[in-house]
Amino acid sequence: MNLMVRPSKTFLYDLLEKELSLASGEIGLDAASANFKNRKMFKTKYYYGLDYDLELLKQGLAKYQDPNTFGIQADMANLKGVADGSIDIVVSTNTLYQLPPDRRSRALSELIRICRPDGRFLCELILDPGFDTLLAIIKAHFSAIDVIYYRNPLSRIYEWIFERNGNLGSHPIAGMRLFRLLAWALSRIEYLTCNIRSLNRRAFIKASEKTEKHSSIFNLSAPPGTRIITL
Ligand SMILES: C[S@@+](CC[C@H](N)C(=O)[O-])C[C@H]1O[C@@H](n2cnc3c(N)ncnc32)[C@H](O)[C@@H]1O
Repeated sequence: MNLMVRPSKTFLYDLLEKELSLASGEIGLDAASANFKNRKMFKTKYYYGLDYDLELLKQGLAKYQDPNTFGIQADMANLKGVADGSIDIVVSTNTLYQLPPDRRSRALSELIRICRPDGRFLCELILDPGFDTLLAIIKAHFSAIDVIYYRNPLSRIYEWIFERNGNLGSHPIAGMRLFRLLAWALSRIEYLTCNIRSLNRRAFIKASEKTEKHSSIFNLSAPPGTRIITL
């Protein structure tokens, strides 16, 4: 049970947690991982958090001192050092929509390229004018795709009440346990509205059964004594 301050985020993380609990491959890559917020949900043997911010990667590695957790310092729109079809599960949350449109599609294509043919690709996108182009890129590479829409009007109104300049994380009331429980209760309504695109503002996309069948062995390793790889 995720008790976030935003009902929409609670819904997203419940979906992500469920999907990741089903994915027990070898290599999991969290694209734009920041300080490994998603780490605990990954059930793959190895977790690679990828971000271009070295300080955030170091913070993530300090939180997770296990030998199967690594940081990759790289630009997600240029993953040339990562072999095609080499990652079992590729995840991107809260980031793609922040990139300018050309870099957004380049990053999406790179993340798809590195996903194994039998792997899973999970990403979150915003329902902006560029959404259909990005969805078309995903559809061109996977034959099993599920799009779950979320951030319905009820979640938006609740979040708007507490937001300060679009930020809600540090709100003293929204952060209280009682209000997190309220946000969780509101997030249940997302399950009723998640098939209606026009009501929502975001989409969580689950893709599998990649059409290109080429796979490779994962080829990155950290220098001895470190858990950070720089691309
Ligand atoms: C809002 S945070 C998202 C963190 C996490 N994925 C989550 O869901 O909470 C965005 C992160 O993306 C990273 N980032 C932004 N553009 C990037 C890029 N082109 N390549 C790698 N990391 C990037 C930033 O450094 C930051 O840590």
